[in-house]
Amino acid sequence: MQDVITTMREMIQDFHNPFLNQMFDQITHGKMLRSSMVLSIAPHNQMTIKLCAIIELIQLASLLHDDVIDESAIRRGKPSLNVQFGNKNAIMLGDALYAKAFFHLTSFPQEIAQSLSGAVCKLSNGEIYDVFLSQGFNASKEQYFLMIEEKTASLIASSAECAAILAGLESEGYLHYGKCLGIAFQIIDDILDITQSQEVLGKPSMQDFKEGKTTLPYLLLYENLPSLEAKEKLQNLCGKELSLDEKQWILDSMDQYQCIKQSQHLAQEIAKDSLSKLTSSYNPKLKEIINSMIQRSF
Ligand code: FPP
Ligand code: MG
Repeated sequence: MQDVITTMREMIQDFHNPFLNQMFDQITHGKMLRSSMVLSIAPHNQMTIKLCAIIELIQLASLLHDDVIDESAIRRGKPSLNVQFGNKNAIMLGDALYAKAFFHLTSFPQEIAQSLSGAVCKLSNGEIYDVFLSQGFNASKEQYFLMIEEKTASLIASSAECAAILAGLESEGYLHYGKCLGIAFQIIDDILDITQSQEVLGKPSMQDFKEGKTTLPYLLLYENLPSLEAKEKLQNLCGKELSLDEKQWILDSMDQYQCIKQSQHLAQEIAKDSLSKLTSSYNPKLKEIINSMIQRSF
């Protein structure tokens, strides 16, 4: 993973911009899930490392923009770039990283360039869905799944597909694996936002609902609440700063109707299905990646 970070740095050095370097140095690199997946599919060589660096730059760019859009003050336990350097700089750094990624993508075969650029179209599309769906309570599971497929799963799916193309493997099964990994990842993220403490999350818990995001556990709760009155109560709490009592009501009701358990079960089912379309033998690390992602606590 260090090779991927070094390659990203080399790509960024090309800007010859000390201000940009100063901001880039403040970014904490997270789990780099996409790179560890790519490196479990394609051989460890210069081209694969370069592909990983491109994918991580796109991912970083999308998070920089997302934190501005979501007005998030914390990313990976540290003040977000928009807080440290302001919205304008966070957006411009995102643009620079995104442009640099595309510059390097042009040296890859067209199939790879089209897959990744198509994924960026999808993730931008997904973010627009997310913003519009967050303007009020969204009771549609269909819309939620469409949104997470575009916003989160598209880049992971394309990364797996591109790695398979680089490795000369049949790519369809890997595309399916990446899509499942992405959807399950977002469901687990949505669960942890509710179940984990501020210390573990590095940001306040139940932040999604405050931001107007009706994630899977809330959708299941809405479905399960028996009275119109209770459903309306939940709808009215969406997008607001919740009191401790209101938080507790949501947590107790989710417990009563097993909304977290049901969400976990669905993520597990998706994880089980992820390997089903891989035709030839695959690296067992792919199974480990999806299982540890499901079992993670942060
Ligand atoms: C995190 O979602 C955000 C994404 C997965 C994608 C964001 C995409 C864009 C902003 C489109 C623009 C991108 C480019 C490269 C031009 P979240 O808010 O649910 O997760 P979080 O809790 O990590 O913030
Ligand atoms: Mg966000």
